Amino acid sequence: MDQNEKKRLAAEAALEFIGPGTRLGVGTGSTVNFLIDALPRVAKDIEVFVASSVATERRLRAAGFEVAELSEAGELDLYIDGADEVNKQFHLIKGGGGALTREKVLASAARRFVCIVDESKRVGVLGGFPLPVEVIPMAQAYVARQFVKVRGQPILRKDFVTDNGNAIIDVHDLNITNPPEMEQRFNQVPGIVTVGIFAQRPADILLIAGDSGVDRRDRG
Ligand code: A5P
Repeated sequence: MDQNEKKRLAAEAALEFIGPGTRLGVGTGSTVNFLIDALPRVAKDIEVFVASSVATERRLRAAGFEVAELSEAGELDLYIDGADEVNKQFHLIKGGGGALTREKVLASAARRFVCIVDESKRVGVLGGFPLPVEVIPMAQAYVARQFVKVRGQPILRKDFVTDNGNAIIDVHDLNITNPPEMEQRFNQVPGIVTVGIFAQRPADILLIAGDSGVDRRDRG
């Protein structure tokens, strides 16, 4: 089975979490795109859609769905999104697509966060995937220096502007042994909008697709 097939399997496994009246937050990325393709099957059950990026909003609209602002929608029942890395504690690295800030807002606004990945995303320690960090443009150099202090290698993502008008720094070579602590520490650096560690609000359910099907893990 190739990686895309696994992404599709993980995405389709998430449909079972959608029930009548679901207020749904929709993530961003290639795995979520498979989810959007499958959503017409359960559309009658979805009361409201909220998108985590302009790209997802466009895709939902192209599929014929209306998309609401989070401020109109209120609390979400469910947020479904992919990840760049997941560990055993359900901590994630996200933001490979640059949508991490709105993704973190929707994950936090949702009662349940279902994370859909193929097995290549599973790791022992986060940080092999460069950590995306959204920063306001004038703070780039200052923020980069804070990551050098923890032996990271910050690289500005070239020719990229987030949906919020900001820049992304990808921090290489981090060994994130305590994700909640690192997330909290860098959340406090002025100029950082969002750190791509999702540990303070981890996933609730992981759907991990491999050759033998989808492995479901529920956080204790
Ligand atoms: C988008 O900003 C990211 O957080 C994605 O959720 C993450 O990069 C996973 O993307 P894929 O599903 O394309 O691997």
